[in-house]
Amino acid sequence: MFSRLARPQQAAALKAISRNFSVSSQNQHKVAVMGASGGIGQPLSLLMKQAPQVSQLSLYDIVHTPGVAADLGHIESPAKVTGYVGPDQLKASLEGCEVVVIPAGVPRKPGMTRDDLFNTNASIVRDLCRAAAEVCPKAFIAIISNPVNSTVPIASEVYKQAGVYDPSRIFGVTTLDIVRANAFIGELKGVDPREVNCPVIGGHAGITIIPVISQCTPAVQFPADQLKALTERIQDAGTEVVKAKAGAGSATLSMAYAGARFAVSLLRAMDGEQGVVECSYVRSDVTESPYFSTPCLLGKNGLEKNLGMGTLSEFESDLVKKALPELLASIKKGEDFAAKK
Ligand code: NAD
Ligand code: LMR
Repeated sequence: MFSRLARPQQAAALKAISRNFSVSSQNQHKVAVMGASGGIGQPLSLLMKQAPQVSQLSLYDIVHTPGVAADLGHIESPAKVTGYVGPDQLKASLEGCEVVVIPAGVPRKPGMTRDDLFNTNASIVRDLCRAAAEVCPKAFIAIISNPVNSTVPIASEVYKQAGVYDPSRIFGVTTLDIVRANAFIGELKGVDPREVNCPVIGGHAGITIIPVISQCTPAVQFPADQLKALTERIQDAGTEVVKAKAGAGSATLSMAYAGARFAVSLLRAMDGEQGVVECSYVRSDVTESPYFSTPCLLGKNGLEKNLGMGTLSEFESDLVKKALPELLASIKKGEDFAAKK
């Protein structure tokens, strides 16, 4: 293609390409994706390979990572991709990583709750976090694996046991709930969803997912019955995808998008960008639940400031009250699991 262009056009085309993938001293970051061969892991790795902040991408899974890494390695962006497969290569995969994104674990099938995944995924997250706590204790950990309401407390306990716990560096990824709220509100109001920003707080399962539509920008109004229906659609959106996939798993592509958005926000904040805010399920004293998702200001050291819930409507306050017992039970379940030898 370039040979058919005149020299000035060739130069302009090359400049445009290098602008897209340009690397400055700030954006030389090493990121790991754990569970990189899966339904989320592969498209998430593709998006991270294209992120200008990433210079090294480490892909870990118990299967197929050499192939995924070889495939992604042919993409014309600077990030160097390395595949690691199996427990013998786990620690090597985490060497020098600054952000570790974890989508490893089984997804739901129709009829299951996220909590039904606990028995399989709890030990997967525990073992990956044990390795990360040893090899890259300062890395930001972004946990996608369900049930997030329990896997984040498990990760925290593992870091405490290793003596390297920093609550500002452990995040439950709830970004897909915000992405969905923005998409659904944009659709209902005929607004470009990229212009919509609706916080979603609480946790990441059913009634613990609490869209704060009263704080949406631009401001939107719905009659009470529509507000209830929209809230329930956001709460049940994961199940909507599980049903539509009819046994072939849960959301993967939208989750990869959301996971990449969250990881890139962490990297942008790490690079000193001001005002980077994402909702995330973190250690929290905003409510009586020790973990709770709220908008978080991100910074060089991870969670810089928890921005809290803000003013909620009566409807939203009621949703928080209803969510707390389930959140507390899921957190206890995770902590009890992590306490077992
Ligand atoms: P998947 O089965 O397609 O992929 C999971 C991958 O994890 C597989 O490649 C598997 O080999 C790998 N894996 C299993 N055990 C591992 C281990 N010990 N170490 C490393 N890798 C291991 O599943 P998926 O659709 O990608 O979903 C993954 C998880 O993400 C599920 O728990 C799902 O519920 C969750 N999820 C969370 C959100 C969210 O919003 N947080 C959204 C969608 C899915
Ligand atoms: C989602 O919200 O899509 C994920 O948590 C996956 C699921 O099981 O619904």
